[in-house]
Amino acid sequence: MKVKKLTPALGAEISDIDLSAPVEEKIKQELNTLFAEHAVLVFPGQPLTPPQFIQAAQIFGLLMEQQIKKFTLPDYPYVGFNSTKDLPIVNGKLQVRGENYHTDHSNDLEPPKATSLVAVQIPTAGGDTQFVDTRKAFDDLSPELKEKIVILKSLHVHESSRSPRSFAKLSPEEMGKIPQTTQPLVIEHPESKRPALYLNTGRMEGIEGMEVNAAYELIDFLYKHATQPKYEYRHKWRIGDFVIWDNRAVMHQANADYDPKEYRYLYRIMLKGSALKSFKL
Ligand code: SIN
Repeated sequence: MKVKKLTPALGAEISDIDLSAPVEEKIKQELNTLFAEHAVLVFPGQPLTPPQFIQAAQIFGLLMEQQIKKFTLPDYPYVGFNSTKDLPIVNGKLQVRGENYHTDHSNDLEPPKATSLVAVQIPTAGGDTQFVDTRKAFDDLSPELKEKIVILKSLHVHESSRSPRSFAKLSPEEMGKIPQTTQPLVIEHPESKRPALYLNTGRMEGIEGMEVNAAYELIDFLYKHATQPKYEYRHKWRIGDFVIWDNRAVMHQANADYDPKEYRYLYRIMLKGSALKSFKL
């Protein structure tokens, strides 16, 4: 197994490994250590079938149910998909899911620890996925700002009244199951113990105990800070890439910058997480 760092802060590419078959326990442990450190792992050349993808994702944890059933493979309920064929086009622009930086299902009491994708079909140009390191973004804040925000919490709902994007419309039955949860603005990673900003502008409904406009100004400031290119790893997909990221250490975003007539299709699996813990200075 070869490991190559992708940026100084986050991301590692792992080659010389075959994830289509079970891996031994020692390798599994090494991969989990690498995951806690680098937060985004890229495995090129793994054109996994859905059952192989399930097996590979389980190296890193337990499968989590997909929330939107219409984007799930009928024979494999834990395997979702991101497909251009299911998306609306408005004024010639594809309305992709996951545009603007976010962390998955932050309104869940136990948000997914990780999300992973396997690229089945990709457009000839565009459609990259970007990741930013919210641990490094927190590390770089001033001591005064750190002290101010480590005690703050925000209510995360299905769709914030100030959301910069619209979310997929859910059936009344699916909507009935959607929780809303108060989350810390700064979380402690359960394995690495590193602090990270926990932001999701699509779902954050202000900040507890703060005047509304001041709360959104602070969220906006932190979001702009955390999404600077210096914190970014941008993944350019190749067919057969398996990429897994840690939702407690990075935010990610999709890009709608490709020809809507071209086909982009990726399998998607999420892994169960636990309740988030506030970081204490
Ligand atoms: C997502 O899962 O948020 C979308 C990622 C992508 O399709 O690039």
